[in-house]
Amino acid sequence: MEHSWTQDNLESLQSHILAEEQKCLGATGEFTWIISAISLATKAIGNKVRCARIQDVIGEAGEVNVQGEMQQKLDIIANEIIMHCLGNRDNVGVLGSEENETPVLLRRRDEGGRYAVLFDPLDGSSNLDISVGVGTIFSVLRLSDEGSREEAMLQQGANQVAAGYVLYGSSTVLVLTTGNGVDMFVLDQSIGSFVLVSRGLKIPSGNKTYSTNEAYTDKYSQGIQSYLKWAHQNDYSSRYIGSMVADVHRVLLKGGVFLYPPTTDKPDGKLRLMYEGNPMAMIIEQAGGKAVASKDRILDIVPEGLHQRTSVILGSEDQVDAVIKHTT
Ligand code: AHG
Ligand code: MN
Ligand code: MN
Repeated sequence: MEHSWTQDNLESLQSHILAEEQKCLGATGEFTWIISAISLATKAIGNKVRCARIQDVIGEAGEVNVQGEMQQKLDIIANEIIMHCLGNRDNVGVLGSEENETPVLLRRRDEGGRYAVLFDPLDGSSNLDISVGVGTIFSVLRLSDEGSREEAMLQQGANQVAAGYVLYGSSTVLVLTTGNGVDMFVLDQSIGSFVLVSRGLKIPSGNKTYSTNEAYTDKYSQGIQSYLKWAHQNDYSSRYIGSMVADVHRVLLKGGVFLYPPTTDKPDGKLRLMYEGNPMAMIIEQAGGKAVASKDRILDIVPEGLHQRTSVILGSEDQVDAVIKHTT
């Protein structure tokens, strides 16, 4: 796939999604409408991230969010941007955000609100003030007709119609799957568009690299400790950035395994299922990798709450299996 565009290969996110949508019989273009809102929102968030220190929106907002974590000023700004951009899409019925305790109800299904969009508006925000990659993670579900919209959005990750993330790193990269493989776009500032740079990404195998916060080793299960000890004795290298989007993006492109397992003080894990675990698991699986909570598939977990946490072990199948071998 070309990694730069010319007049005869330029394909934007919009044109790509429309072309993909044509493949789905009866496609109505409503899906493109949602992705275009995410594209607009993440361009705006990326701009804020890059000007954060200049505009003095670095640092803590002074509030604790529903996660019990100190909110960064940009967590709130990013959340407001996404809420605004998605809120005026007339086919979005409900929004679920890491920064909002309860779902935001927009339109009833009989008013056209057929989709739920769940998101982590700013992932890795504790890294903001040191200019390390942060991102936005999103998950799109079609609302079933049963029950309330709050209940209808709590679906297994296997039901996602789309998932993706934007990494505000040395470049602004959007990675997206709509269930037919994983495509990657880079924001070309000169034309203000996400341009397609890779189609059908496949996660490499054989990369003996693990990614975890080793400060927690003594708080991990015996199985995870045994895996880490085995890795230390088998020429593994370690890479950990502390922003899930950046760590997962490296695993997607280079292979290896990212693990945030439960600890004694976080027995359910730290990462949230609905807007971190599920979207990343869909992307990794669509790229030919594997994503499990301990040994069970993350995408099969039946959610009970918008903010429920999950263990996350994801990456190349061979590397995830090496972890599972020590934990079961
Ligand atoms: P968020 O900034 O959305 O709260 O997410 C932070 C998460 C995730 O990005 C990362 O993988 C993890 O926190 C890092 O946690 P530790 O600092 O405990 O390693
Ligand atoms: Mn996050
Ligand atoms: Mn966040």
